[in-house]
Amino acid sequence: MDLFTEQFKYRKILTVGLVILVWILYLKMFWPETITYRIPGPHPASKLASNSTESPFLLDSLPQALTNLTYLLYWPPTPGVEGDLLASTSPKTSTYYLRGPAQASYTLGDYLEAVLVARDHRGKPKTHGGDLFRAKLLGSELKAGVPGDVQDLENGTYLLSFPLLWAGKAQVQVRLIHSSEAIGVLRRIWTEKHATVNFRGYFRGKQGPQETVICNVDPQSTGTKKAICQYRDAVSGELWFCEKPPTLPCNSLVGHSSGSYLKVTTKHDENLLAWNVTDQVLSQGISPILVRPAATSNTTLALSPQLPCRPGLLSPKPSGFYHGNVWHSLACSSRSFPTADSIVGCLAGRIVHMMGDSTLRQWWEYLRDTVPSLKPLDLHVTYQAGPLMAVDTTRGIVLHWRAHSWPLRTFHTPVASLHSVVRELTGLAGGPHTVVVLGLGAHFTTFPPSIFVRRLAGIRAAVMALLARAPSTLVVIKLANTGYKSVYGSDWLTLQMNRLLRAAFSDLRVAFIDAWEMTSSLALTDKIHPVKLIVSNEVDLLLSFICPT
Ligand SMILES: *[C@@H]1O[C@H](CO)[C@@H](O)[C@H](O)[C@H]1NC(C)=O
Ligand SMILES: *[C@@H]1O[C@H](CO)[C@@H](O)[C@H](O)[C@H]1NC(C)=O
Ligand SMILES: *[C@@H]1O[C@H](CO)[C@@H](O)[C@H](O)[C@H]1NC(C)=O
Ligand SMILES: *[C@@H]1O[C@H](CO)[C@@H](O)[C@H](O)[C@H]1NC(C)=O
Ligand SMILES: *[C@@H]1O[C@H](CO)[C@@H](O)[C@H](O)[C@H]1NC(C)=O
Repeated sequence: MDLFTEQFKYRKILTVGLVILVWILYLKMFWPETITYRIPGPHPASKLASNSTESPFLLDSLPQALTNLTYLLYWPPTPGVEGDLLASTSPKTSTYYLRGPAQASYTLGDYLEAVLVARDHRGKPKTHGGDLFRAKLLGSELKAGVPGDVQDLENGTYLLSFPLLWAGKAQVQVRLIHSSEAIGVLRRIWTEKHATVNFRGYFRGKQGPQETVICNVDPQSTGTKKAICQYRDAVSGELWFCEKPPTLPCNSLVGHSSGSYLKVTTKHDENLLAWNVTDQVLSQGISPILVRPAATSNTTLALSPQLPCRPGLLSPKPSGFYHGNVWHSLACSSRSFPTADSIVGCLAGRIVHMMGDSTLRQWWEYLRDTVPSLKPLDLHVTYQAGPLMAVDTTRGIVLHWRAHSWPLRTFHTPVASLHSVVRELTGLAGGPHTVVVLGLGAHFTTFPPSIFVRRLAGIRAAVMALLARAPSTLVVIKLANTGYKSVYGSDWLTLQMNRLLRAAFSDLRVAFIDAWEMTSSLALTDKIHPVKLIVSNEVDLLLSFICPT
């Protein structure tokens, strides 16, 4: 709606003018045929970073941790195998064993440690690191599980460590998600390609003609050498580009959808990423163990200090574990909300704004489906991007969800419904009854890290401003979960997204919900849209932050 409002804010005309001037100069130099279309809207006063060509409002608010990507996104070097597939790491020949002598039983609260030796398909030990192994300790009968820590010694060996958090049986499971050689492919494509997917923009003229073109996060990735339409969100500085439609003007962009997955891999790359070497369980290297309660106590769970859940807590690693299919946070005393009444009791009088992708929409859907008194509105809205709203008028509960804006992969959706997260946050007064949940990551794996970094820098600044004007607002960051294993979206890429998310927000008074670990702990197949059991635990942790006692 407001994307195309005719209003122009004269109050801020000086700042706007300066920004436009810089942009015009820049565009004249680099894209002579570009037509810039500014999305008008309210405009915060802010400093102009003289050197930046992208988000001039917000780059100067980049947290220190986000500025050194070399440090933040460090991954051991992954020398290629030049066509020799058999020299890549194999899940069949790689093995692990107990680090110390086997014990008849283990004590609750201790650690189980193991050594993993990576080998290639010929059985030759690897001499460099960089493989993505994921390990967990499962207590299947107890419906228990915890992610293990995998430390890469960068010489072909890895140290595995599992905290023993429940009494009873436990069994190690290790999977090779991607060989280091496959990660070399992912890393090369991630850092060298501007985009691995594209999008469509739908333009509508006054007389009704429609034109469809390719759009993307940068001009090159629209695939055209001809004129470009540039869209710039005036609040966030976020940019979007479409090939200029044949006859219609740039400002007639009304629709958005996914486009194509671009061909970015060679045959060799594809072999390294093939299903039969991806996400494969290693053969059992350690017999099931028995964990006994400590001699001094007869508790069966090693729980953390009983701190109420609140934003700003440090996240331990792991951040929690499952027992009886219930996630126990190790950062604070998380609670269960098993009934509709308990959920309503917690949410009463609150307005919850969820912004992000479809994995966060699952939270909204879970609450809608679990709490009968929460009535969904906007039943006519069939767009994947939302917005969705559910209310309980008696208890004063409002539950919003809307998709983050570009680069959302979605069915055809109105551009007017794609609101930037920054713009939404800027429009919130906040306060003790306001809860904001952000869940981004999955739609950014198809672009180089700088795209997500810039987006996060803007969102971070908007969260800081929100917390400054209304410190009692609860802001919750849902990390991205496990799922895809392809060049377009892979656990390895998601790990990098999560590092960026943590770096962007960890020094703010926000709460993290580590959906990565919550989807890495049970004997379940990874799914980008986790099953209800996981979603209900994620939502319970959210509710634990809203209602800590
Ligand atoms: C702008 O960038 C150039 C080259 O990247 C650098 O030499 C210069 O110091 C920068 N200026 C400012 C003000 O940051
Ligand atoms: C970034 O981190 C890397 C690796 O730790 C370090 O070598 C480099 O000096 C850092 N760069 C800056 C600008 O701090
Ligand atoms: C790998 O590195 C670790 C730690 O430096 C060392 O203890 C171990 O012996 C090394 N293993 C091999 C096979 O080189
Ligand atoms: C994986 O499958 C491909 C065929 O799809 C085959 O050529 C290759 O040898 C298989 N690799 C392994 C390690 O089994
Ligand atoms: C230990 O077990 C006994 C008997 O089963 C019980 O009475 C007692 O409360 C338990 N203590 C703790 C700390 O759980």
